Amino acid sequence: MRHVENESILILDFGGQYAQLIARRVRDCHVFCEIKPYKTPVDEIKKAGYKGIILTGGPNSVYDPDSPQCDPALLETGIPVLGICYGAQVIAQCLGGEVGSASVKEYGNTSVSFDLSSPLFADTQSDSITWMSHTDQIKQVPSGFRITAHTEHCPVAAMENQEKQCYAVQFHPEVEHSLYGSQMLQNYLYQICQCKGDWKMASFVEATIQELKDTIGDKKVLCALSGGVDSSVAALLVHKAIGKNLTCIFVDHGLLRKNEGDDVERVFRQQFDMNLIRINAQQRFLAKLKGVQDPEQKRKIIGEEFIRVFEEEAKKIGHVDFLCQGTIYPDIVESGIGDSAVIKSHHNVGGLPEDVDFTGIVEPLRDLFKDEVRQVGIELGIPDALVWRQPFPGPGLGIRVIGEITEEKLDILREADAIFREEIMKADLNHSVNQYFAVLTGIHSVGVMGDDRTYDHTIALRAVTTTDFMTADWAKIPYDLLDKISRRIVNEVKAVNRILYDITSKPPATIEWE
Ligand code: XMP
Repeated sequence: MRHVENESILILDFGGQYAQLIARRVRDCHVFCEIKPYKTPVDEIKKAGYKGIILTGGPNSVYDPDSPQCDPALLETGIPVLGICYGAQVIAQCLGGEVGSASVKEYGNTSVSFDLSSPLFADTQSDSITWMSHTDQIKQVPSGFRITAHTEHCPVAAMENQEKQCYAVQFHPEVEHSLYGSQMLQNYLYQICQCKGDWKMASFVEATIQELKDTIGDKKVLCALSGGVDSSVAALLVHKAIGKNLTCIFVDHGLLRKNEGDDVERVFRQQFDMNLIRINAQQRFLAKLKGVQDPEQKRKIIGEEFIRVFEEEAKKIGHVDFLCQGTIYPDIVESGIGDSAVIKSHHNVGGLPEDVDFTGIVEPLRDLFKDEVRQVGIELGIPDALVWRQPFPGPGLGIRVIGEITEEKLDILREADAIFREEIMKADLNHSVNQYFAVLTGIHSVGVMGDDRTYDHTIALRAVTTTDFMTADWAKIPYDLLDKISRRIVNEVKAVNRILYDITSKPPATIEWE
């Protein structure tokens, strides 16, 4: 589902690490954008009617014969182009300028002087700071271009040819450390590309519901609801479009946190009056997991069983026309350098069902980043606790009970975890700590309670700060809060006599313990 009615910017990915960040920044300016591989044919680009084209950075040297290049026709379309870092060097090379290795490489915050007569630098200051990361630089600008910024070691920190609508910057305006970076992006989008900035979540919701109505008509849709943000928002959009023709199946595998299953049911059945089937499959999952210790095997069993339960329920419904999925943009974004698109199929638990009779898939969130999904959730009136729900793995508590899973262990963990979460919320740390949970470690240790010796469970608390969950720091939760949480857990949860706080970052540890 493409939002063709919106003005759109194309981000051509030359393999840099910042393509998605550039896209986020453009969307922050209320302009829709898409990331495509640098090889995207110029004809296709022209047909799509983009208002601007941004060429990203990349790890290569443009003068290396195998490096990604730009089709010269791209710079002749009349669509305003902004090249960033490698993207700037590509423009220089393509139009007959010269790029070479910089004698002094620049990395990090760098003082820069701007020529304020450039429309790109309107409303900035002539002496400023930008964020640099380059080993090559433009040595000679192509004919017709003028230099519009320089640093001590980089004579061409920016260049432009207004007639050709071609702008290039060696630094990274998308990175926060570039002081006027967002002003420059706004200048590019609003002044140079003449965008209006009409990409707003309220209009997205309205347009998407209409598109879903048009696509689905009076046909039937099935959705696996997990209670996570993406599947909840996707399901609700479809529900707003087609009402009771959407059936949601919520598989409660018994590995959810305290009250979670009931909360999901209450929100979707009572608040939104959705057609929701809740399957209480706890015993079935526990039976399959009996005696299993290995984390990967547990994951596999839970994922497969989830699909089986879903398929069985779906079969009872009979033929459905569409399956609704909560795929979001980072799940499908294409790789800039690879020859074929790398598509990650989004499924929290274990892949697409094979045995469900459906003819198509609807993915109403496939253009959105996570924070946009949250904004849509807020627009739709989904409660805060669900919209801001921290990530929760598909296998749930199954990978937080270390070793074999039993009902008793799950109950202990659920209680301890609920206390930890409650205290983090009360301390108002739930937005600054990105993921936090308890782990039942499988260690038993000796303790003393009154005059009695105990030999009970050890709970570990895990809390991390992270932006992408690929790397993470352990959260520096105040000692007195940890003290309170520890006291509450040992006092209130039966069979726990020791609490640990995990002070390892990722890497070398992972966020989860299994
Ligand atoms: P790790 O433990 O790999 O976790 O540092 C990174 C993020 O991924 C989540 N996670 C999972 N999510 N299925 C999921 O849907 C899984 O099997 C799984 N394992 C880890 C984890 O909670 C963290 O947010």
